[in-house]
Parts: sequence; structure tokens; C-alpha cells
Amino acid sequence: MTKNAHILKGQVLSFHSSPFETTPPDAVSVSEAVLVRDGKIAALGEARFLIANNSDAQIVDYGDDVIMAGFVDAHVHYPQTAMIASWGKRLIDWLNSYTFPEEMRFEDPEYARMIANRYLDLTRAHGTTSMVSFCTIHPASVDAFFGAAQSRGQRVVAGKTCMNRNAPDGLQDTVQSAYDDSKALLEKWHGQDRLSYAITPRFSPTSTPDQLAALGALWEEHPDCLMQTHLSEQTDEIDWVMGMFPEARDYLDTYEQYGLLGEKGLYGHAIHLTDRERARLREMGAGLVHCPTSNTFIGSGLFDMAGLMAEGQNVGLATDTGGGSSFSMLRTMAAAYEIGQLRHTPLHAAQLLWLATAGSAGALHMQDKIGNIKPGMEADLVVLNLQSTPAISQRSVRANDLWEAIFPTIMMGDDRAIRDTWINGQR
Ligand code: GUN
Ligand code: ZN
Repeated sequence: MTKNAHILKGQVLSFHSSPFETTPPDAVSVSEAVLVRDGKIAALGEARFLIANNSDAQIVDYGDDVIMAGFVDAHVHYPQTAMIASWGKRLIDWLNSYTFPEEMRFEDPEYARMIANRYLDLTRAHGTTSMVSFCTIHPASVDAFFGAAQSRGQRVVAGKTCMNRNAPDGLQDTVQSAYDDSKALLEKWHGQDRLSYAITPRFSPTSTPDQLAALGALWEEHPDCLMQTHLSEQTDEIDWVMGMFPEARDYLDTYEQYGLLGEKGLYGHAIHLTDRERARLREMGAGLVHCPTSNTFIGSGLFDMAGLMAEGQNVGLATDTGGGSSFSMLRTMAAAYEIGQLRHTPLHAAQLLWLATAGSAGALHMQDKIGNIKPGMEADLVVLNLQSTPAISQRSVRANDLWEAIFPTIMMGDDRAIRDTWINGQR
């Protein structure tokens, strides 16, 4: 790694507690500068003090820009980059019409590499430094994604999507190949540099019970890996699942029965949950991932953020690209705010920023590494220009405090608001 040190000056935001457990602004500290050394956060504090004590550090002055942890997107499908914003009806129809045909193209490793690089370019431009991605059934789609992320020094989580039914020919694996390929990829990539493997059954309708059980067994053999899937996204999807698993108590039980419920499980969407499912998820400390632009785009429903947070669930935030309609975590925070409003529980700007960073990192059990600015943590940072467009600027200049200044960027901002993205201590 290049040995180097930088002092970034601006309004440096860090969380010293969860804004869901205290008055939201009280969870946040604002410092004048952050010292980044050898890829890590070395110190936070007064600029003149950091400068006086670190004469080797290069100073980067961002003026009034906000400097915070890079965004952590807890659920994406990088292979859906090129078909984002495809008009559709319901989830299953959208999957069959657009998603599966596009995922078939990843049989070609060259195509997979091109899209992996395109996806990481786009998300970096949007200030996202880490993500958890589904790949396709093709092992080369996993190699392409990890290879591209590794060359950029990014902390990412990904896994081979497994499905052996209810998908087109050519987009199905088997019980044995799902297990063998996942295991080989896990052994190849998990723990290399900043890369982690996630065991990835797409969702119960596309895996037979035998395949779910095989992946549950693999997870038991590698309990330090994450496991990612989808849960209770649409009501008609749930009816379909219950028809396919008549013995199951509920949708979550189709995972639980086969060893696919655990603390390191990440359950995307999790909208229409029963009381039993909520209780089990909370008992396990499993990660629930809110995908608000996707949930409105595909018409899935309104995630119960306030209720789930109040009962102590572990929740992250995600774009769900390309079911989600944006690569931007700013746009995603705006959608989370809007859904909160529709449920009469508006989220504070500090809560939105926390969800997009520390909250998502917590869902991945990586809160000691990413998602906040604290000494010892990895230096993945985003620098936000709070006056990126005339429309945002004319509102922001009227603000009475930082939260009023930042909220127009959350609601109206996009990649133009991203002044800079730092990954692993490198601009
Ligand atoms: N459920 C199963 N697969 C998918 C997917 O690719 N996107 C979304 N939004 N939901 C899913
Ligand atoms: Zn998804």
C-alpha cells in the first residue's frame, strides 16, 4: 500500500451513537478536519492541531463541504446495471421480462467484467464506497466483480446467485453445482484484501428445498460469511412461496428450516412481515435491508422503519440496483424519507445519513471497519457539496443549521453533489 497522509478540512461528520436511540442531532459530532494515514482514519479534530502534529500530511481544503463516511449500499444486483429503470408490472413479471434475460448475458466473462467496472465507476461517482452485491449464477460474474473491486481497493461483499427452478434454462444451476461453485468462490475470494463472500440463494421460489439445504450446510461450514437473500417483498410473491412450501409457518421459515436464518443473514426488502418473523429476526440480530426506491418502483410496499427500529432490529439501507431506480444513496435516503412520511413517521436527516453509512455497516457486521469516521477505521469517505445545483443552493444558503443545510442535498441531490470520493485512503 502507498504510504501517505492527508488532512481533509471541511465539516467532518461522525456518529458517536445511533440517532435512533437518542435525539438525532445529538448522535453526531462535527469536527474541522480528519487525518487519513495509510488507508486508515488516524485522527479527528481541530485543523491547526492536526497540521502542527503531522507535517508530512498533504492538506486538502474542502471549505464548507461535508466530509463523512462513504455510503454503504447493503443490497444491490450489479448485473442489473444496464437494465435499471425498466418499465414493469409486478416483481415476478419484471424479473422474467428484463432481469433474467439480462443476467443470461453474464455467461460471457468479458461482458461481466465490463458491467462490473461500469457499475463500480457509477457508484463511486455517487459516493458509494462499499456494497453487498448479488452476482449471477455464473462463477465468472463473481470473479469479474471481485476482481474489479480489488483493483480499486474497495471493501465489498458479493456472492454467486443460486437458483435451480423457476428461472429460464441457461440461468439455472443444480443443488450440487450451487454448493460446489459457491464453496470454490468462497475459498478463492473470502478474506482476500477487503473482499468478503456472501452465500447467495436468490429467494425461496427459485431454489428447491434441497438447494436451500445445501447452501444452509455451506453456511454452517463457513459461519463467518454473510448470507444474503430476499424476504417478503410483495404480497403475491408471499402467496407463491406459501403455495410452494405448504409446511412452512411463514416466508422466513422457508429459510429457517434449511439453516438460512442467522445473525449474519441479510434479508432484502422484509416489508410484509408477520409477528413471528419479526420476533425471530430480532432474536437472531439478522440484518433487514430497506430498499425504498425499489419498493416504490416495483410497487412492493412501505417498509416499517420506525416500528422495526423501535423493536431493536438491525437495519441497513440499499438501492437494490436495478430493481431500485437509482445508483444514488442520496436519492435512496430521499425515498426512505418519503416512505417514512407515508407511514407518518418522518426520518431526521441524521437518521437518514446514519442508515446509509453506519446502519448499513452494522447490518453487515462491519461497523468496526466502515460506515463511520473514527480513529482506526478504514478511510472510505465521501465529500458532499451542499450547493451542487442552483435549486439546492438557493435553499441551502437560507439554512439555520447544518441539518437544514444538508437536507436539500439529501432530497434533491445526485452525483453532482459528490465533490470527491476517497477509497482506502486514496482520492
Ligand atoms: N427477488 C428475487 N430476485 C430479485 C431481484 O433481482 N430484484 C428484486 N427487487 N427482488 C427480487
Ligand atoms: Zn434484490
